Amino acid sequence: MKVLIVGGGGREHALAWKCAQSPRVDEVLVAPGNAGTELEPGVRNVNIAATDTERLVELAKREAVELTIIGPEAPLVAGITDAFQARGLRCFGPSRLAARLEGSKAFTKDFLQRHRIPTAGYRVFNRASYDAVWLRAQKTPIVIKASGLASGKGVVIAQNLQEAESAVQEMFAGRFGEAGSEIVIEEFMQGEEASFIVMADGTQVLPLATSQDHKRLLDHDEGPNTGGMGAYSPAPVITSAVHARVMREVIDPTIRGLREDGSPFTGFLYAGLMVGDDGTVKVVEFNCRLGDPETQPILARLRSDLTVLCDAAIDGNLAQVEAEWDSRVALGVVLAAAGYPEQVRSGDAIDGLEAAALLPGKVFHAGTRRADAQCVTSGGRVLCAVGLGNHISDARRDAYALVSCLHYDGMSYRHDIGYRAIARE
Ligand SMILES: Nc1ncnc2c1ncn2[C@@H]1O[C@H](COP(=O)(O)OP(=O)(O)OP(=O)(O)O)[C@@H](O)[C@H]1O
Ligand SMILES: [Mg+2]
Repeated sequence: MKVLIVGGGGREHALAWKCAQSPRVDEVLVAPGNAGTELEPGVRNVNIAATDTERLVELAKREAVELTIIGPEAPLVAGITDAFQARGLRCFGPSRLAARLEGSKAFTKDFLQRHRIPTAGYRVFNRASYDAVWLRAQKTPIVIKASGLASGKGVVIAQNLQEAESAVQEMFAGRFGEAGSEIVIEEFMQGEEASFIVMADGTQVLPLATSQDHKRLLDHDEGPNTGGMGAYSPAPVITSAVHARVMREVIDPTIRGLREDGSPFTGFLYAGLMVGDDGTVKVVEFNCRLGDPETQPILARLRSDLTVLCDAAIDGNLAQVEAEWDSRVALGVVLAAAGYPEQVRSGDAIDGLEAAALLPGKVFHAGTRRADAQCVTSGGRVLCAVGLGNHISDARRDAYALVSCLHYDGMSYRHDIGYRAIARE
């Protein structure tokens, strides 16, 4: 069969690489893909943007694609799954209605409250309803969020009320466009964050391996927030007791609530969680797709055929399948481009990919493209080097061995990926 992966980042390279290993799969198409998917055996790039739903539907029809997996959130929130299904095409991802869980933080907070799922206390405002007097009575730090999609940039953790007030004003002034016309103001939560991703078929869920990422640009969790500078799987903070609690208090009621509300969720559901010292769990956010860079270490550990799992989910048969995991730890280090996460420079030649390919582990591409015979940078997060090992320190050693092969002008990365898990070891 042919599989289509929609998107062109590190997550999509990992999805394409994984699907291409399936004995059922003849060819994987990636739209638009990157230089990594272009060079991956059994994978072909097709130059169509991830948001160009009409041309993607045509492509899937023309190539007789039997399974499409959507990587990024923007097409999901815009309803790409509905468009594929309306044309009789099998597509793994939530409907437009179910994708509101990521597309509108205001919707999600109200949903969580209505279904009594633990999350930070909050209020939702638009320009007309905004209550500055209320804000001035709140404790700090306090969190201000643009309700809509803002590529991971629409969250401000304000340390004092002046910062909070100016974040609110910037959002209403259009800093994130339409996404900031409605805002959520919520309590600051203490604890350790973890990513809990499941596959859902509308009713049943299959939890994937747990993971943790590193959002801040610099070592010791300093510097600005980014899309993620590295990740590892599993996340030791998710003990089996916490895992059971997340399923009971977060995942099950979310899937049930969405079904009862008439928008059942089929796809990857990503719960961003805050785990307290006492083992309590609160929802930070939902994403309606796999995380990047969490996907790279997670899929590096998946032994099962991902296409079989996606097919089971589309057919509402997730209860019939199980996922088998490599017991080793996987750890991925993101290599960023000059200027990331602000003004990113593109076009820097990448050296060392051939040398890295001879070592254990895997280098996934993200913001890369081919210019003649050379791979060059073409985005903020350029590569993700993943190592595997019996202990997190072994996985980390292998990942950084890959990193030391690689070079381009302006390359930057964190040196401390996995430090939390290593401290627990
Ligand atoms: N209430 C909160 N208390 C403490 N930290 C928070 C809170 N809300 C958000 N954060 C921090 O801000 C980060 C981004 O917030 P959130 O996940 O809601 O935004 P996002 O833009 O949807 O992120 P992503 O790009 O991961 O989808 C979180 O990972 C967390 O570190
Ligand atoms: Mg999000």
